[in-house]
Amino acid sequence: MTEANMTKEAVTVAIGSDHAGFRLKEEIIGLLQEEGYAFRDFGTFSEESVDYPDIALDVAKAVRSGEYQRGILICGTGIGIGIAANKMEGIRAALCHDTFSAKASREHNDANILTMGERIVGPGLAKDIAGVWLKTDFAGGRHARRVQKIIDFEKS
Ligand code: RB5
Repeated sequence: MTEANMTKEAVTVAIGSDHAGFRLKEEIIGLLQEEGYAFRDFGTFSEESVDYPDIALDVAKAVRSGEYQRGILICGTGIGIGIAANKMEGIRAALCHDTFSAKASREHNDANILTMGERIVGPGLAKDIAGVWLKTDFAGGRHARRVQKIIDFEKS
């Protein structure tokens, strides 16, 4: 990654998970603390069963409102929590289980929420994915035109 596509200032992060993503959420919070990101943990706070749409919508609202610039959502697979978040206008949640997708989701899609599945990816790789995703800027240019078409469709 070049200096040009590294985020210059640390972004603020809203993070959340369901019970199936709780342990991985704690690992990612460790990364946020180590790297000095300002963040808020929207729960859940134990492995007791909860419904992933509730957490997804809390984090998505915090990102849509601008209170936090980015969101990270974790469930068992990363699928359900991402589907729920993507129902909210202005949210572009990307399921990424590799660093190439994480980087592309920022550069090409301006993804504002990263989703991952604790049952799919180990903590080491998940931290690398989140680290790259948080540091990568949107590339703009032709990608801005394409993202704008999604925004226009949402508003129509
Ligand atoms: C919970 O068992 C599981 O369904 C949830 O974490 C998620 O994987 C849904 O997509």
